[in-house]
Amino acid sequence: MRVALGNDHGGYVLRGPVIDAIRQLGHEVVDFGVDSTEPVDYPDIAVQVARAVADEKVDVGVLICGTGIGMAMTANKVRGVYAAVCSDCYSARMAREHNAANVLCFGGRVVGPGLAQQLVETFLTASPSSEQRHLRRRQKMAEII
Ligand code: RB5
Repeated sequence: MRVALGNDHGGYVLRGPVIDAIRQLGHEVVDFGVDSTEPVDYPDIAVQVARAVADEKVDVGVLICGTGIGMAMTANKVRGVYAAVCSDCYSARMAREHNAANVLCFGGRVVGPGLAQQLVETFLTASPSSEQRHLRRRQKMAEII
């Protein structure tokens, strides 16, 4: 898979561990993140990852800021993007399987590097459920504009 990665200064602390985790799983990192703690504006990063996902230039995205929230709010403004903030592995798996989230978000000030790697592994090894009830619910979401 091609995985777009974006981080701001608040997510910088998790950047290295997350890149390692993605590559460890045999996936390619398409990097939109910053390699520094110099402050930047998270929407500038999130929109690039979200557009790469929406335009199918990558399969999924991972966005990291201080909390994950600003990244997710921004990414979810791009049509076709379903970004979920997850700080536990159950939510990361459900976001992918039930909600077909295509962007995983979390916070560098919320989770540690070990959990961040597990969140990424959980999200990337799960796939959207094709059970009718989930398809129906996701279709209803998609129809809301
Ligand atoms: C930056 O200080 C912080 O606001 C940002 O990383 C993120 O947490 C926003 O949601």
